[in-house]
Amino acid sequence: MPATSAMAVAGVKSEQNRLMSNPQTTDTPESHREAPQAIEHAGEPLGNALRGRLYDVEPIGQRTYTPSLAVIDRSAGAFHWTVDGRKLADFTSGVLVANLGHNPVRWWQRVLDELGLGALATAGQGDSAFSAAVPLCAYNAGTELETRATERLLANLRAQPGGGRFEQILWAASGSEAIQKALWAALAARRGHDCVIVATRHGFHGKKGLAGAVTGSESDADRDPRVRFISFPMQECATVAQRNGPLDLAPYEQELSALQAACGSRLCCLITEPYLGAAGSYHPQPEYLQLLERFCRENEMLFILDEVQSNFGRTGPMYAFAHYGLEPDIVVLGKGLGNGVPVAALAGPEESLAALKYGEGSDTWSGNSLACAAVVATLDEFEANDILAHAARLAGVLERGLLRIEELDAVARVRGEGVVWGVECAAVGRHSADDVAVACVEACYRGDERGRAIHLLGPLAGRVLRVSPPLTMALDDAEDYLDAMYDIIRGLGKELAS
Ligand SMILES: Cc1ncc(COP(=O)(O)O)c(C=O)c1O
Repeated sequence: MPATSAMAVAGVKSEQNRLMSNPQTTDTPESHREAPQAIEHAGEPLGNALRGRLYDVEPIGQRTYTPSLAVIDRSAGAFHWTVDGRKLADFTSGVLVANLGHNPVRWWQRVLDELGLGALATAGQGDSAFSAAVPLCAYNAGTELETRATERLLANLRAQPGGGRFEQILWAASGSEAIQKALWAALAARRGHDCVIVATRHGFHGKKGLAGAVTGSESDADRDPRVRFISFPMQECATVAQRNGPLDLAPYEQELSALQAACGSRLCCLITEPYLGAAGSYHPQPEYLQLLERFCRENEMLFILDEVQSNFGRTGPMYAFAHYGLEPDIVVLGKGLGNGVPVAALAGPEESLAALKYGEGSDTWSGNSLACAAVVATLDEFEANDILAHAARLAGVLERGLLRIEELDAVARVRGEGVVWGVECAAVGRHSADDVAVACVEACYRGDERGRAIHLLGPLAGRVLRVSPPLTMALDDAEDYLDAMYDIIRGLGKELAS
């Protein structure tokens, strides 16, 4: 059954390491390894053919590195089926996108109804080749759907503890675009002035434009001189147990004081994530983020919270700001916002967003009808059903299952919250932790002798396995596949140690 043995994977790995070239991408998720050739798995003729064809017609820059590169035929709920007919439990939700699961019937029906396309599948075509439905692109116009989606999202945000500052929504087509627009708004409010943007080191906010500029650290090449990085607690929350312990804020306070002394009134805004996702799932004590918010208030800076990954229930509540005790000026949303339909947004005070002049925050796709329909349908599901209550139960199952996995020799530590976890691999024998992580992804993809296989992202920060299934995954399934993950990693650990 093994497609490629763990040893063979480890061999390929050193080649991949040599191919790591762009230092600016070393903190970005799953992107910093490059496969030297099209990935192949034994016994997967259809998958191998498609992987080969993709490799021929798409540049490597299109893909993020993952050693399995599953070729998915269809997906339902928390499962994928590959083109070769294998079932995979989805521990990724896409990339933390399909929070409701893949292709929920009621959700799709709602999306289509919102667009006026609900009857399309059943209606006869009649004489017309066109359906009278909402236009997909309403650029230079408005629709009732866009108006309602904006009002609904705003109302949902404002109903949460800490959501009181949000008065308007600015739409975007991707998370990094929404980050860019949030930073544009902050800079526009100080037009003509020398501005400093503060960002937390090792964060990930996207690869493009200003989103790329606030990602990573000052040691990366070609940094934007307007961005100053500050430390984010990582060692203090390297395990679940540590995170529940106290955090010494003194070094962070000193760093902020030094920044204040150096930059003074040039300080314009501060951007951070509730937890460092791409850097390996570091979930800080709330006091740290509260300190940053206080610093912003004291220095009249906009406090921008990047919830692109955490929004819509990932960490427990609808938004992480609610349980971290924060009241951001601007919150940036994406990924799960449309449950798979590309859509992102930012919410903020009218006064701040009004700094952008006519059209400065606009583009072809932002606020398009499909995106708005997806947001309305997703909000409907969260507001009318007990998704968050189920997610809280799932969080308990994940925590128990992953803490058991933490006991394995191939695992160094586990951290996370809600339905977003990281499993940091350990070195085994002569294999580095990074090699072990890659081998784990591939072994989980191959599955166990009972055919239980798991779809994982390529390792975060080289060695951290991301576990983030849809919030709707059945508890029995979660238990079953966490058991499978345990058995698979235990078996792999023995193989690598020998
Ligand atoms: C926290 C965070 N911010 C921003 C982004 C960028 O979003 P996108 O890939 O949609 O541009 C990501 C994507 O992984 C993210 O995790």
